[in-house]
Amino acid sequence: PSDQPLAGRHILVTAGPTHEPIDPVRYIANRSSGKQGFAIAGALAARGARVSLVAGPVALPTPPGVTRIDVETARQMATAVDQALPADAAVMVAAVADWRAADAAEQKMKKEAGGIPTLQLVENPDILATLGHSAARPTLVVGFAAETEHVVDHARAKLARKGADWIVANDVSGDVMGGDTNTVHLVSSTGVETWEHMPKAAVADRLADRIVAALTSATPA
Ligand code: C5P
Repeated sequence: PSDQPLAGRHILVTAGPTHEPIDPVRYIANRSSGKQGFAIAGALAARGARVSLVAGPVALPTPPGVTRIDVETARQMATAVDQALPADAAVMVAAVADWRAADAAEQKMKKEAGGIPTLQLVENPDILATLGHSAARPTLVVGFAAETEHVVDHARAKLARKGADWIVANDVSGDVMGGDTNTVHLVSSTGVETWEHMPKAAVADRLADRIVAALTSATPA
């Protein structure tokens, strides 16, 4: 039926930040609220898709009809994404921490121990790039790119590097992180579309409609 154009499709969505432990009480994180990713998961479920939402630590209700898998770290998110496959499409909205502490302390680090600790960081797995180049690659792979400058140029470079069909580039130089509106550019190999400043729910609806078109048309994205 036309109001459930994604019936029978499975779509994987990642959302939120990740938390990377430094010791049992401290972590590295970022300002992602999860709002945009949760809105996208809800919009896809409303169009009939079976949606697996792999969510970092956020304080948001699960959208109706969405299966949520809660994780904390990037490595847990990578495992959860793997376990949720296969999928017809993946929309990777999570703001995954690029780095984690090389050796998280098993006990709380104590100021009284003296000295100032040095954080040794190591790189986290790139979940999107891994999926974009994997044998289990969904038909449509969508990444996000939060940038504060050269938004579209960075997104173009990211398309190939991540193995994505589209990159939704968002300009986070304003109050986008945590806010309810977004300014995005949809970047694909065929060009760039700049969308007007709009609520995150409207970005979600428009992107979900584009995903419907891509998955249900004869020609692939
Ligand atoms: O490289 P950058 O972090 O800007 O890429 C953003 C895109 O890559 C987003 O779609 C994000 O969800 C994804 N990503 C990921 N795993 C990482 C880093 C980014 O899936 N470790």
